[in-house]
Amino acid sequence: MNKIYEKTIRALFFKFDPEKGHEIVKKFARFPIPTFCRDTTELNVRIKNYKLRNPVGLAAGFDKDAKMISLLSSLGFGYLVIGSVLKQESMGNPKPRIVRYENEQSMVNSMGLPSVGIDKFVKNYLDSIIRTDIFISIAGNTLKEFIDIYKIVKKLTPFIELNLSCPNTENGMLFQDADNFETLAENVSKLKDGIIFVKVSPVINRKDAENLITIVELCKKFNIDGITAVNALPVKEKSISVGYGGLSGKKIFNFMLNTINLIKEYSNDKLILNACGGIFNSEDAFKALILGASTVQVYTSLIYKGPCITCEIKKGINVLLKKNGFKNLEEVIGYKSKLSNK
Ligand code: FUM
Repeated sequence: MNKIYEKTIRALFFKFDPEKGHEIVKKFARFPIPTFCRDTTELNVRIKNYKLRNPVGLAAGFDKDAKMISLLSSLGFGYLVIGSVLKQESMGNPKPRIVRYENEQSMVNSMGLPSVGIDKFVKNYLDSIIRTDIFISIAGNTLKEFIDIYKIVKKLTPFIELNLSCPNTENGMLFQDADNFETLAENVSKLKDGIIFVKVSPVINRKDAENLITIVELCKKFNIDGITAVNALPVKEKSISVGYGGLSGKKIFNFMLNTINLIKEYSNDKLILNACGGIFNSEDAFKALILGASTVQVYTSLIYKGPCITCEIKKGINVLLKKNGFKNLEEVIGYKSKLSNK
């Protein structure tokens, strides 16, 4: 199926500017389609008191404005991360702001958090036909913005992801600084209903690692439930209007694994992890799950491989479960550390 997608739809879309292709999909995405991709109970994932039907999520950024939920929730995902949404409407960075690295199955984006703003987002959300669990990703320039949006979105879904790590705006990473994060975590935790994740950048050096370890400790202290690792990797890119952006896709897969590994080491099994970054198939997903991720998120691979990727990853995980003698996914999650504790 992937090959058919690559030779037809992808070949056509890749003739356009990358954003144009996305805009076309958006126009057709207001309606659900029949779902052919069924889930098996072996793939259920527990997230505290909730159960996801399977571990394959769509990462934040694909549907920033909640306009495509009806279509996306027909594609077999265990959950969709919708957003990131801002409080006010924002145009984002000037175009061009996406470039594909086709040979490397990667891309750089510098969207700059364009958003319809929270009011229109909520309207779009409520107009959608929702057939899977929804996480909402929120971003803010200030503590007040984060808090104001949190109060609204927590009424829509129990799953909220705080985006601490957008590489493309002036304040996109402000709350990834440990001191700022402490203030955010403390304030959000006072209002907390349901599950809260924070999304962090890939770790590339010792300073990042130290900062992330502090974030892990603060998550535990303030009852933040989990971490999504990783966001796009900040890079320079001349063909993008602002000259920089976030790298995603295969080129960041190993950064993602290293970051998941580090978080797992310091989390004392108290945090739920979502792996995001360069996951293209079930083997990639399995590596992240064994390290301790409870779910995996895709985005760039959806663009390169097409909508069948969800079913292919799920089927492949089922095969890997059987081949490696696991009864279900719960036995796989964090298997590496279970082995070393024996
Ligand atoms: O530029 C963007 O809108 C990307 C956001 C993100 O990576 O969090």
